[in-house]
Amino acid sequence: MRLPSGPTLDLRQRLHNLPKVDLHRHLEGSLRLETLAEIAREHGIDLPGYDIERLRPYVQITNDPPDFQRFLEKFQLLRRFYTTREAVQRVAYEAVADAALDNVRYLELRFNPAALAHAQGFSFEEVTDWVIQAVDHAQVDYQITARLICTIVRHENLESARQIVELALSRQKRGIVGLDLAGDETIYPAAPLVSLFRHAAQGGLGITIHAGEAGGPENVREAIELLGAQRIGHGISCVEDSNVLMLVRDRKVALEICPTSNLQTGAVETFGYHPLRDLYLAGVRVTVNTDDPSISDTTLTDEYLVAVMGMNLTVADLMAFNRNAIRASFLSPAERAKLEEQLMAEFGRSTDV
Ligand code: HPA
Ligand code: ZN
Repeated sequence: MRLPSGPTLDLRQRLHNLPKVDLHRHLEGSLRLETLAEIAREHGIDLPGYDIERLRPYVQITNDPPDFQRFLEKFQLLRRFYTTREAVQRVAYEAVADAALDNVRYLELRFNPAALAHAQGFSFEEVTDWVIQAVDHAQVDYQITARLICTIVRHENLESARQIVELALSRQKRGIVGLDLAGDETIYPAAPLVSLFRHAAQGGLGITIHAGEAGGPENVREAIELLGAQRIGHGISCVEDSNVLMLVRDRKVALEICPTSNLQTGAVETFGYHPLRDLYLAGVRVTVNTDDPSISDTTLTDEYLVAVMGMNLTVADLMAFNRNAIRASFLSPAERAKLEEQLMAEFGRSTDV
């Protein structure tokens, strides 16, 4: 969603200049459309069209009415682009580069190894190693620190989920720091995955769960109490139940809020009704993130602009959210402290914000 330029241009530039942290961004939702078109043409992927404008409505929310299922459907076509090692590496490299170009200083990028392996029957291990290598290169080429989170999708079979957990555990020294659960929370319960998530947490992975987006506050409670979530993807429906809200606040569970995505999935009706500010004022550890930049046609700068223009938040609030994000990141305590010091020092030095 492109936001208006003109009077907001100065503000956009200021928000672009801010050093930022993004904890919730999907690799599968972060492909440049130009890259998609090129891969499709090179590899003869059967598509309705090969130029960007023909492709756009298939992979991006354009005139679609707000709808959770429709939003998730966009991932199906995107899965067909992981045709070669080069394609996987290029997409992963560009996802990190694009974050850095938006002045994201720390990124936790999540991906589902099964989605990447699916197109050509690659192994989960090989696609994961390609992503790790590409992200390492991008970190060196651009001024950014990036870590990876492995995503399990709720409808995935248990054996595949188990493989993803083992894979993530085995690559912690190479930058995998967490485990995520995504997919349709309105249909698929999390209960069958409890022992896997416990195993992952005991092995040292951070746990984040998509919940309370299309589903109600009971899903947020389930994510925290059953799956041991330290962070919740979205989690905004916790405002509907004061007991769950207190649980989130008291356990210092961070909410990874993605405003544009929330509008497009129908989780909120308008930015004016978005509970971000209320959650913040209630003392919840909130953060602002992108979710899927290419599906939503957004950047973290755009999301900050929405927060300021549409939700009555200030630049100082946004820096408080960045501090929350660093403290809720899956870095080691020493790395977190160093990042917080660097980011706040950079913010302090900036004269134009
Ligand atoms: N919700 C659930 N699953 C997802 C999402 C989301 O917003 N984005 C990617 N997978
Ligand atoms: Zn998400």
